[in-house]
Amino acid sequence: MSRFPEFLAVALLAAGPAFAGDFGLGRPATEAEVAAWDIDVRPDGEGLPEGSGSVAEGEEIFVEQCAVCHGDFGEGVDRWPVLAGGDGTLASDNPVKTVGSYWPYASTVYDYVHRAMPFGNAQSLSPDEVYALTAYILYLNYVVEDEEFVLSNENFGDIEMPNVGGFIFDERPDTPYLAQGAPCMSDCKDEVKITARAMVLDVTPDDETNPGGELVVVETPVEPEPEPEAAPAHDPELVAEGETVFRKCSACHMVGEGAKHRVGPTLNGVVGSPAGQADGFKYSGALTSMAEGGLVWDEEALAAFLRKPREFMKGTKMAFAGLKDEADIAAVIAYLAAQE
Ligand code: HEC
Ligand code: HEC
Repeated sequence: MSRFPEFLAVALLAAGPAFAGDFGLGRPATEAEVAAWDIDVRPDGEGLPEGSGSVAEGEEIFVEQCAVCHGDFGEGVDRWPVLAGGDGTLASDNPVKTVGSYWPYASTVYDYVHRAMPFGNAQSLSPDEVYALTAYILYLNYVVEDEEFVLSNENFGDIEMPNVGGFIFDERPDTPYLAQGAPCMSDCKDEVKITARAMVLDVTPDDETNPGGELVVVETPVEPEPEPEAAPAHDPELVAEGETVFRKCSACHMVGEGAKHRVGPTLNGVVGSPAGQADGFKYSGALTSMAEGGLVWDEEALAAFLRKPREFMKGTKMAFAGLKDEADIAAVIAYLAAQE
């Protein structure tokens, strides 16, 4: 048990009889009540219950209970929080704070998921499920590499988070605010200066047509009906199946006209082309060096990559567990091949 709840228990015990005497209200919290409330997990692992769970088990639970909001790979659906990626972005204009890029301790993942998730059904998960989910979230962030990895209360302390060094202890003395002098309550500044604009701070969505961020009324043009496309020289049924499979990729990749890079590069014309050719996309060192070694995305190489991305390309930043079904692999390759 951690220190804070003991303090609370003592406080309640002390307060109980006094209230009972004065107002006839309240009673000391029972041990079971305190235990149910005392669920915090500390950076050193204090507070963890016994239990264990693997990355693979975590993936299953995640897909079922978490992916609707956080996406299959923690990429975040719509505006729900992103749980993976963002490495190296903290000092940029657009930091992506995730478990992997930002959180200093794995214990917070356990504590948070156990305490608050799934959103709307908090504290419905067993310790084993929370260990498995924590293992999977660590895996999505490359903190653990092996899908067979089993996280438990015993090996929890071995986990080191990438950004643990990014935090410092605040050593300023705990001076109460008011002791620093009476706070100013009116006319406190001689002059108010605007030092930054929301556009620059990047809290306003980019609008290339209006870089100054002036308020303008925009009329939405009516989209013309698309021209019916000429029949492709590919098996249309397989291509259609591949389009369905591609939903698993579309959180990170776009294809077709007007496609833009997302987490992953655009994939137009990728089948049969040398790897690493998407203009303006920053590939991992792993992909770049395989591309320099002559990797061409023929069907065989693509199939091997999509089966087990991180086995085929150690160190790739494609955070995707892989497609298990060979038919899905063939279909998605056919779909990609049909995209010029
Ligand atoms: C209905 C949508 C929804 C579902 C389902 C859901 N979450 Fe969340 N999750 C959220 C929201 C919203 C937040 C942010 C809450 C906040 O900031 O107060 C969040 C935050 C988190 C965070 C902290 C992210 C951060 O960087 O602050 C983690 C970790 C997390 N969820 C894990 C999970 C796991 C594991 C599951 C499945 C057991 C799950 N979530 C299910 C909506 C959801
Ligand atoms: C979670 C995000 C994510 C998902 C999901 C994902 N990818 Fe990727 N993909 C990436 C990233 C990031 C890269 C760049 C890899 C690197 O640089 O190491 C990439 C690279 C690739 C490449 C190599 C492109 C090139 O230009 O060399 C192909 C092909 C590819 N992905 C196909 C797929 C397919 C097909 C799927 C779905 C079955 C998929 N990806 C799912 C993020 C993702």
